[in-house]
Amino acid sequence: MQFFVSLLLIVATAQAHCKPPPSIYTFPRLFVNGKAAEERDWTVTRRTKNENSKQGIENPTVADIRCYSNQNAASIATVPAGATIHYISTQQVNHPGPTQYYLAKVPAGQSASTWDGSGAVWFKIYTNKPTVDAQKQQTWPAQNEYKTPNATIPKATPDGEYLLRVEHIALHMAMQPNKAQFYLSCSQIKITGGGSGTPGPLVAFPGAYKSNDPGILVNINTIAPESYVGPGPAVWSG
Ligand SMILES: *[C@@H]1O[C@H](CO)[C@@H](O)[C@H](O)[C@H]1NC(C)=O
Repeated sequence: MQFFVSLLLIVATAQAHCKPPPSIYTFPRLFVNGKAAEERDWTVTRRTKNENSKQGIENPTVADIRCYSNQNAASIATVPAGATIHYISTQQVNHPGPTQYYLAKVPAGQSASTWDGSGAVWFKIYTNKPTVDAQKQQTWPAQNEYKTPNATIPKATPDGEYLLRVEHIALHMAMQPNKAQFYLSCSQIKITGGGSGTPGPLVAFPGAYKSNDPGILVNINTIAPESYVGPGPAVWSG
């Protein structure tokens, strides 16, 4: 009898110590105006290092924070300025946290199919924050969906080739340093029908984020959720 009681206690303790499931996903396919911009995954989106593990990045200052990839993609997708974009996710994006999109213009003489996106070249075109209901329950845009939220390529974005970077930052463990989880990928695109805007502020990856940025080292259960601001520069909307 004593033995079984002990056994039950051990099982109960093990269950109590269970961590919430890790949020694990990748964003392998870009959609433009609701249509797939690539027939197969990883055709214009650069295959990420976590394709199999699906593990996120926890330290936002490492080189992988830029595109998390070690190979380029085969094609470049044409994306009209003003178009709506989103990505499909391999798993439900079940954890709370913002989605952000960035663009970086490919320098003259280079190609989106080979350029590495280095330097202070990235500008943000979208971020978001949660809504809160009467029970103080917070919900993030597209949370629990198999896709990321819609964003618009600003109409004033100049024509040319770009890298488009999507990121979702899972904040459920973010009250501890280097425990926010970054899920991201980069796509090779060519913007057409654009304008003559001057996108900015421009930032570098790595460089744009520090581990203790208030949007990264944060307890989202104790801040006013509507006061949350995603890390990185202000959004450029054209
Ligand atoms: C996202 O954009 C697509 C394509 O324009 C549209 O069909 C869909 O309704 C949009 N979803 C939301 C939630 O706005």
